[in-house]
Amino acid sequence: MSPEKTFYLETFGCQMNAHDSEKVIGTLQREGYRRVESEEEAGLILYNTCSIRDKAEQKVFNRLNDYKKLYKSGKRFGVLGCVAQQEGEKIFERAPYVSLVSGSASYRKLPEMLHRLEAGENRITGLDDRQTDETFETEFTARQNPYRGYITIIEGCDKFCAYCVVPYTRGKERSRTSASVLEEARRIADLGYSEIQLLGQNVNSYRDPEGKLSFAELLAAVGQVPGIRRVRFTTSHPRDFTKDIVEVIDAYPTLCDHIHLPVQSGSSRILKAMAREYTSDWYLERISWMKAAKRKISLSTDIIVGFPGETPDDFIQTMDLLAEVQYDCVFGFKYSPRPNTPALVMIDSIPEAEKSQRLQVLLERQREIQRANYSNHLGEVMEVMVEGQNTARGQVTGRSSQNKSVNFTTGSPIAPAPGTYMQVRITATHPNSLVGEAL
Ligand code: 5AD
Ligand code: SF4
Repeated sequence: MSPEKTFYLETFGCQMNAHDSEKVIGTLQREGYRRVESEEEAGLILYNTCSIRDKAEQKVFNRLNDYKKLYKSGKRFGVLGCVAQQEGEKIFERAPYVSLVSGSASYRKLPEMLHRLEAGENRITGLDDRQTDETFETEFTARQNPYRGYITIIEGCDKFCAYCVVPYTRGKERSRTSASVLEEARRIADLGYSEIQLLGQNVNSYRDPEGKLSFAELLAAVGQVPGIRRVRFTTSHPRDFTKDIVEVIDAYPTLCDHIHLPVQSGSSRILKAMAREYTSDWYLERISWMKAAKRKISLSTDIIVGFPGETPDDFIQTMDLLAEVQYDCVFGFKYSPRPNTPALVMIDSIPEAEKSQRLQVLLERQREIQRANYSNHLGEVMEVMVEGQNTARGQVTGRSSQNKSVNFTTGSPIAPAPGTYMQVRITATHPNSLVGEAL
């Protein structure tokens, strides 16, 4: 009898990566592998990696170094995802115990790569598929989230923002047919999921290869799948953000009242240098559509500080935009130079301490804005989907339709199951969460 095939998989990075891992796990299980909880128990150790900023990439190499010693016990290592695609065969030089290096555009070939690995082959690569028109779909997706079903609708990116590795790591933009997206939505609704999150690097750049539905029409169609109560989508790009997206959110209550729209900078001059292809006024016009919606739409964004050439005045313009939009959540980052990107040749002359200072100022201001925004919910009754429990505090944790974290008590010793919807009255507010009691 051949020894049991086991694997350990750890994911770094974004939701796209998290969902890719669900598909990779499903593929491995289909190939007869059993997932284990620790590297020590596993025959095959896989890291699904992120290279968006230098820190994320270093984390992966540190992890590989930590586990170098395990190699001696006959384990095999594989590096998947964005660092794999970016560094390619160089990984074999840096970490000679790695046998498999594959970017996300090659996951369709995983079964074949696994067979070669099992046959004892070393230095197996899946790196040549970035120009593919195909998406990676599998009916064996091993969903790890018990209440939220992820569905990729578009992969890759053709935008080539000056700072960003994604077009190089995830390859060319390619959409799935709306028919296959809707089929998957129905399938997971039948499995009992009531929340769907549609995923794509630029989710709203979606283009149905069969030309049947626009992105807004696809949203509406997913929102009408029987059993589905909440539909989210991430990440939107301002360039492709059309008014009909707000109109369908208005028309279908199942479409969540939250939009994540990365702005990156409030200075049109910096936006131009970043090759974002919009000005701050153009961005703010889209925000005004959202603010005019019937339901109050919660807004969040990503901001990079310290992009090459960002002056104190450019930074003030970002602060002004923050004050104008009044986001419910901001993810702020210090600019990190990345391999292959056009910004790499721009002079990154802003000292690290100055970047840190700008980030701190930005996040402090945002905290004040959020404190005020969140306090507006005091006394409100909202629907919360249960996600888990905070046993130490005797609270149930969940999320509102606006994606705000809500911690609440139920007055019952029996905890509600994840995925249950409850009406909660908000009794206290914090800058990042709400507190309440179930009705
Ligand atoms: N440096 C810092 N932040 C970056 N992001 C993308 N590339 C970089 C980089 N080189 C940020 C952007 C993006 C988010 C996912 O990560 O804000 O929206
Ligand atoms: Fe990281 Fe971007 Fe790759 Fe996601 S797509 S894992 S954020 S580099």
